[in-house]
Amino acid sequence: MAGIKLPPSDDTSELPQQPRTPVTGDLISDDDRSIAADHDDEQRHADATEALAAANLRPSSDYSSDKDSEKDEEDGDGIASMLGLQSYWDAAYSDELQNFRQHGHAVMDTVVSWTKSLCIDITQRRLLNHGGSDKTEHDNHEVHDLSSWSVLDLGTGNGLLLQELAKHGFVDLTGVDYSEGAINLARGLAERDGYSNITFSVDDVLDTKLERQFQLVMDKGTLDAIGLHPDGPIKRLMYWDSVAKLVAPGGLLVITSCNSTKDELMQEVDSFNQRTTGNPVQPNSSVHQDSATHSAPFQYVDHVRSYPTFMFGGIVGSRVATVAFLRN
Ligand SMILES: C[S@@+](CC[C@H](N)C(=O)[O-])C[C@H]1O[C@@H](n2cnc3c(N)ncnc32)[C@H](O)[C@@H]1O
Repeated sequence: MAGIKLPPSDDTSELPQQPRTPVTGDLISDDDRSIAADHDDEQRHADATEALAAANLRPSSDYSSDKDSEKDEEDGDGIASMLGLQSYWDAAYSDELQNFRQHGHAVMDTVVSWTKSLCIDITQRRLLNHGGSDKTEHDNHEVHDLSSWSVLDLGTGNGLLLQELAKHGFVDLTGVDYSEGAINLARGLAERDGYSNITFSVDDVLDTKLERQFQLVMDKGTLDAIGLHPDGPIKRLMYWDSVAKLVAPGGLLVITSCNSTKDELMQEVDSFNQRTTGNPVQPNSSVHQDSATHSAPFQYVDHVRSYPTFMFGGIVGSRVATVAFLRN
């Protein structure tokens, strides 16, 4: 495994970078995005491939095999499939650290501040449900204390999402990735940036060795990557089985995807709920619904409604969806 070569500066923007993908500050409604983007499925798949690759690290050019499957295609579909392979991420994180860049920052900022608000909102409601309505202003500061939220970041990559959550007050932070190179990178960056309290470990989400549950489980781009594996459909089923065990009852799962829309993620959850309970579950179910919904593993809570607009390959309006589900 190649060592991590970090530049002396504590500003990650000074890491040698690839040409930056332009990011605009314009906001676009999540609900309107399908109109703005106006891509067919094939185009979306290609966009997601580009977004996933661009948002992280450039793939190394000198790998040719994979733990799961031998594949070295040059066409678009081949590249898409490679994003689902562990060898892709191992090579990207171990050999091309100099290509590290952070153009996904705008998405990360949105995801983190939105997730923080959601956690505060849920904590507040829990306090009120437990007779906390007459709390003093001093007591109400407790709702901003996010230390009770244990956080797991699935497929953490460079671990910067966890660093950002730490800046916003979360303290119990764990990141896992099946790529050892990713974990080395995440650890190196966390140490450099003064976040050595974040725990990182090599772990395959689909065959996790984690033995604890977490109040908040984050996934930014990992289900996308899993879905791009040649066995994506089966692996997505395995993903839900695994994640259902990792989110503590009453906890939250927050998924950010540039391949699936909010509605597609909700449908996927509905299918998982149905598969698990044997009951047809109301589509688009929201919190506080009937008992059938409550027996289902996951319930839709909320989604991010506005995102900065991105430009990939000259196309403005690449999709990103962030959706939160409550674990019953
Ligand atoms: C698109 S990247 C996202 C990285 C990071 N979450 C971010 O937002 O920058 C997908 C990440 O998921 C990891 N990954 C893919 N499949 C995984 C699995 N089965 N278990 C653990 N990590 C996985 C890859 O190594 C890669 O770091």
